[in-house]
Amino acid sequence: MNPMQAPRLNRLQEAWLQEIGLDKRMLAQFVAPLAGPESAVDTSVQAEPEPSAPKLMPAEPRLPVRRQVQAEPEESPAKTLQPVPQIWEELIAHIGECQACELHKGRSHAVSGTGALTAPEWLVVGEAPGSVDDRTGLPFQGKAGQLLQAMLASIQVTGQTTVFYTNLIKCRPLGNRTPTPDEIAACLPYLQRQIALLGPRRILALGGLAAQALLGLNDDLENLRGKVHAMRSEDGRSIPVLVTYHPTALLLRPQHKLDAWRDLNLARTVPGAEG
Ligand code: URA
Repeated sequence: MNPMQAPRLNRLQEAWLQEIGLDKRMLAQFVAPLAGPESAVDTSVQAEPEPSAPKLMPAEPRLPVRRQVQAEPEESPAKTLQPVPQIWEELIAHIGECQACELHKGRSHAVSGTGALTAPEWLVVGEAPGSVDDRTGLPFQGKAGQLLQAMLASIQVTGQTTVFYTNLIKCRPLGNRTPTPDEIAACLPYLQRQIALLGPRRILALGGLAAQALLGLNDDLENLRGKVHAMRSEDGRSIPVLVTYHPTALLLRPQHKLDAWRDLNLARTVPGAEG
């Protein structure tokens, strides 16, 4: 497309761009660098019949996942209740009763996640439940969740796309403080088992902590975002991992929304892992 020509956008995409502080014409200036031959990123977003942003609903119980995962990985030094179940429903019940770290004392609900249970197109991994999430037992129910839906809609991840939403940490840290390394170590086996059982085609990590834990890297968010990574699941699949800003960080620092838009456009081009 002509780099100066405004791209065609649907209403949700326009709303997101307005939030970023860009309009269609301003966006056209960014199309060329984003869509350059090296980046293979196609920003010529197509008009589509007004998708509705997906609403997070409880996971459908009618889709039990019984994919067999490999034997227990080396014993975790953390106090996660062992063994971590290999059957989805048992895993969720186990998370609900977990007392592996202090966070269980302050929780109303452990928030294990919600969404499509069989090879979802996307697994979205946030940091930890917020206060509304803790009350309802569902992830991303607050303002960050609303922004997340707008972000996903901007790359056509809408109600038609299969997504599972979860967090690195399943219980809310009081005051929404950053989870400690011990809390992350105690909870990570649950996320790893969820990944093996769900078999997602791609993973979107929101924020540095989720990205570092999934990739086993200590790099800053700035070094992790803007690239396509891969992680190996417990059952040996290589799954593409994309990293971007956490929506809560974007609410606090909207100046990063343009970079988030770039990350999301990169995410849109990434072929998913085989099922
Ligand atoms: N709610 C979640 O479920 N996760 C986050 O990371 C933030 C809010």
